[in-house]
Amino acid sequence: MVRSRWGCFVLIVVFVAAALITLLAWLTVHHPANTKPVLSVRQNVQLAWHYVAPHSVREVTDPTNVLVLVNPWNRLPASYVPPDLVRLSIPYLNPGDPENHLMRKVAVPALMALIEAAKHDGIYLAGVSAFRSYATQDWLYHYYIRTQGLKVAQQYSAKPGTSEHQTGLAIDLSGSTGQYAAEPQFAQTPEGKWLAKHVTQFGFIIRYPQGMKKITGYAYEAWHIRYVGKKVATFMMRHHFTLEQYVQYEQFLKVHHITP
Ligand code: DAL
Ligand code: ZN
Repeated sequence: MVRSRWGCFVLIVVFVAAALITLLAWLTVHHPANTKPVLSVRQNVQLAWHYVAPHSVREVTDPTNVLVLVNPWNRLPASYVPPDLVRLSIPYLNPGDPENHLMRKVAVPALMALIEAAKHDGIYLAGVSAFRSYATQDWLYHYYIRTQGLKVAQQYSAKPGTSEHQTGLAIDLSGSTGQYAAEPQFAQTPEGKWLAKHVTQFGFIIRYPQGMKKITGYAYEAWHIRYVGKKVATFMMRHHFTLEQYVQYEQFLKVHHITP
């Protein structure tokens, strides 16, 4: 009799415990905070590799957005000039070319901090080219075609309207001697190596990384840096995203109402 009472008691305890565990599990799964799908790092990476390049060229509708994507498939209006260009006071390789010395206000403090930090590490950087108008890019693109041929020109020079330099958020840097300025060998110089290691800390990215031509449209440019802000730059570096992949990722989150 005593044994069967104990048996009943144990059964009830087990049943209540099982019911409680089931209820807790259900509440955890269905809690509003847990119902949003979150991408794992693996999914992020898969998304990056599944990058689909657009088939046609479209005109950019948000040119002043700090994360604006300008590339061979996303063109700026020919008349676009950023509204808040500021004259940079940094050493320049061509001091007599004033248009090249302009950059959007939002990126200037970050660039100045980058130049100062480099100096602190014994690296003396100089500006080569920051903002370029549509007309300047038009001249430059055709100059490269004339002097180096179409094939080489297309690897490093954007058609007018498709250059990030027109956004005012990009700048080409070199060492203060100008050796290997805007040349592939720049990547092996102390200045090129310093940039590769430190740009992210200041909210910039190496916009055209090695081996990403199919996605970015251009060969590796160790000298061309683009401002995106520290948070995005750090995220992109962690996931090895190009700006094309990052923008696609952002759109994916938006379409699927996912909060990262
Ligand atoms: N060198 C980059 C691709 C430009 O011309 O904008
Ligand atoms: Zn550039």
